[in-house]
Amino acid sequence: MKKIQVGVVGATGYTGEELVRILAWHPNVAVSYVSGKEDRDIRIQEIFPYLKNRLDLECKAFSQSEAIEKCDLLFLSLPHTVSMQSAPALLKAGKKVIDVSADYRLKNVDVFEKFYKTSHKDTANLKQAVYGLPEINREKIKSAELVANPGCYPTGSILGLAPGVKKGLFDLSGIYIDAKSGVTGAGRKADKALNFSEVNESFKAYKLFEHQHVPEIDQELTRIAKKDMSVIFVPHLLPINRGILSTIYARLSKSMTTEELEVIYQKFYKDEPFVNVYPKGALPELKNVQRTNFCDIGLRVHPSGKLAVIVTAIDNLGKGAAGQAVQNMNIVCGFDETAGF
Ligand SMILES: NC(=O)c1ccc[n+]([C@@H]2O[C@H](COP(=O)([O-])OP(=O)(O)OC[C@H]3O[C@@H](n4cnc5c(N)ncnc54)[C@H](OP(=O)(O)O)[C@@H]3O)[C@@H](O)[C@H]2O)c1
Repeated sequence: MKKIQVGVVGATGYTGEELVRILAWHPNVAVSYVSGKEDRDIRIQEIFPYLKNRLDLECKAFSQSEAIEKCDLLFLSLPHTVSMQSAPALLKAGKKVIDVSADYRLKNVDVFEKFYKTSHKDTANLKQAVYGLPEINREKIKSAELVANPGCYPTGSILGLAPGVKKGLFDLSGIYIDAKSGVTGAGRKADKALNFSEVNESFKAYKLFEHQHVPEIDQELTRIAKKDMSVIFVPHLLPINRGILSTIYARLSKSMTTEELEVIYQKFYKDEPFVNVYPKGALPELKNVQRTNFCDIGLRVHPSGKLAVIVTAIDNLGKGAAGQAVQNMNIVCGFDETAGF
């Protein structure tokens, strides 16, 4: 099969690096373009030495014309607001775009502008963007020109709640998500609060009730529930590099056992290559999902039968970003969904 030419814009960041790492070994693609923010005279294998003998490309500042000339499909691993300045020309030139940023995830522009504190510059393409959570939207992703790759926290949260929400098992007014993320979740850029000495041996909650991923989780769960719903979401910063562990508390509308809940979740995800519902009340750990595209899920129902506790584990750079973006590319291009992993 002829390989398609792909590019990674923002290849020097954490999600961009992870994309390049997966794509360089992907059987159906050739990485033909990579860029960073600055125009430097440097090659990608000088930045990431493990690409020696695998990928040898210049890594300069983003050039729209070069990206269009060299690629069939582009990943945008850029800060929000930068993606929506780059995507329109690529889409106009007939390229497929998978955006890892938040720019095309929220359908309500007012909500985007409130949470991201900036105006939206590409509402025309926002309408056609497909939210790239394969387990929920696979059919729509197949024909998408523009995929809005989900946020890291929303991926773990939505996958943990979707089966119960869809089946009407939960009291939708009583859902609490207690999520903990490793430091790479904030990107590679310098930030005092993320210095090793600030984070190491510490643990803290942040952005209570105002995190930008709250409206994304609400939007997608509302679609699944087919009625308005809103979760209470509390993110935490873990002193580790990668991974998100989410502990989700959901009141059950009807009493049930752990075994009964497990059967429902197992059935919902039975054909999913990257979701692993643990049996017999076993609970997931980050070490089992780091550097993978898996979302592992463990379930327990409180002995009262009235409260479900769902624990999900993902790698924020894997299923929470680059891994999921490659999974989306596989779906868009008609490749085996697990190719490259
Ligand atoms: N980190 C995660 O776990 C995660 C998970 C899901 C989604 N995301 C989203 O993915 C996107 C990228 O995140 P990240 O963590 O990879 O960020 P990052 O490590 O800070 O990388 C950002 C990349 O964008 C480039 N860049 C920055 N400003 C630019 C500009 N004005 N023009 C062109 N290129 C520019 C940077 O180039 P230089 O290196 O040259 O500065 C770098 O390659 C963000 O929107 C983020 O919200 C991140």
